[in-house]
Amino acid sequence: QKNRPQNQSVPSRGQNPDSSLSLSTRRELYERDFPVYKQPVEVGCFSLDSERRFFNDGRQMRYYVEPDRSPNFDLRDGYKDRFIKRDDSVKEKLDHMLRWILANRSKLSARGTTASSCDLDIDFVTWRGHLTKLLTAPYETREGWQLAVTRFRGTLYISEVETEAARRDQENRTERHEEMMYWGYKFEQYTCADTVHGQPDPGGVLNTNEAFCTVVQTRLADHRLLFSGEVDCRDKDPNAPAAPACYIELKTSAEICTPKQRSNFHRFKLLKWWAQSFLPGVPRVVAGFRDEEGVVVAMETFPISKISHLIKNEHNCWKPTVCMNFCSDFLSFVKHIATEDNPSVVYLLSWEPRRDVTFSVHRDSPYCFLPHWFVEEMTS
Ligand code: A3P
Ligand code: MG
Ligand code: MG
Repeated sequence: QKNRPQNQSVPSRGQNPDSSLSLSTRRELYERDFPVYKQPVEVGCFSLDSERRFFNDGRQMRYYVEPDRSPNFDLRDGYKDRFIKRDDSVKEKLDHMLRWILANRSKLSARGTTASSCDLDIDFVTWRGHLTKLLTAPYETREGWQLAVTRFRGTLYISEVETEAARRDQENRTERHEEMMYWGYKFEQYTCADTVHGQPDPGGVLNTNEAFCTVVQTRLADHRLLFSGEVDCRDKDPNAPAAPACYIELKTSAEICTPKQRSNFHRFKLLKWWAQSFLPGVPRVVAGFRDEEGVVVAMETFPISKISHLIKNEHNCWKPTVCMNFCSDFLSFVKHIATEDNPSVVYLLSWEPRRDVTFSVHRDSPYCFLPHWFVEEMTS
C-alpha cells in the first residue's frame, strides 16, 4: 500500500498565495543578524558496538594521537580483507536517540509540578546530521531531502526519510566511490587509539558499526534542541576542556594543488565541515589531505571559529548567519504546521534544490517512525 498524503502538498513556488504553507531557501532572505545559539552542553553520550548494539555509556570513545609531520598513511590498506561495513539498508531512524532518552529521562523532564511534568523540556529531538542538512540547504545545489516530523507530548521529533534520488545514487555507486568511502574511516584508524595512553592499530579490522555519539542540548533562537551526533575522537590531554570542547572531528580531502581547488575547498567542503562541527560545539577539525592513490600527504588543523574568516576572501561565499537563520526559520515553520500531537501522524517536509520546502500530512502510514516501545514507555 502506497503512502497517500491526506493533505496534498502545496503547489510549487510562486503559485501558492498562502506563503505560510511553504518556505523559501533563498539566501537573501536569511542575511540578518546571527541568531542566538547557546553554547551546546553535553547531557550524555552513548556507544554502538561492533554489532550495532546500544550502550548508554562512552565505551566507544577514542583518543586522538597526533601523527608524524609527513604521515604517508595508505588509506586503501585493508579495504579488501580487514573491513566490516555497516549495513546501511537498515534504517535506524531515531531509535538510538530514543533509547538514550528513555534511559536518561530524569535529566530531561520538565521541572515544576504541572500536569505535564513527565514531558520533555525540549522542542526538537533529532540527529545532528539532519540539522547539518538544514544549515547547508541555502547553498545546496545537488541533493534534496525529506524530513519526517511527529509531534508527541509537546516535543517535535525529526527523522530523515531517504529520497528516491539518494536510493538510486546508493545503488549505482562505482567500485572506486565505494572504496573512497572507506578512506575516511581508515584515516580515523591511523589517528585514533582506544585508550588514553594507547596507540592506533592500523593493522586491525575496521568495523563501521562502531560509534561513539554525544548528546547535546542547546537553544537556537526560541527553539530548545536536543540532538545527537557521532564524534570521531577526543583530545587525550587530561587537562583538555570538558566535552564537547575536547572533541575532534577528523576529515579527509583531496590535496589542494591549484587556486581553483582551494576555492572549491573553501566554498563547498568547509561549509559542510563548519556546519557539522559548529552545531554540537566541536571546536576543531583535523584534516588529512590525500592524493589520488589514497595516500595522506599533509595534515592541517582547522579551528571551527576560524573557518568563517578563512572564507571571507572568496567571492559570493557562504555565510554562517544565513545557515543559522534558515535553520531557525525552518524550525519555526515546523512548529507552525505540525500542530496535531499524535505519534501516528507524520508531517513530511520535502525539499529539492531551487524549490521551496513543502509538506504533506500522513496518518498511520509507513512514514511513522516513533516505535511502540518508545510511545508506550513515554505515556506510562
Ligand atoms: P571523510 O569525512 O574523511 O570523508 P565523518 O567525517 O562524518 O566522521 O564520517 C566519516 C567517514 O564516513 C567519511 O570520512 C567518509 O569516508 C564516510 N562518509 C560519511 N558520510 C558519507 C556520505 N554521505 N557519503 C559517503 N561517505 C560518507
Ligand atoms: Mg565521524
Ligand atoms: Mg570525521
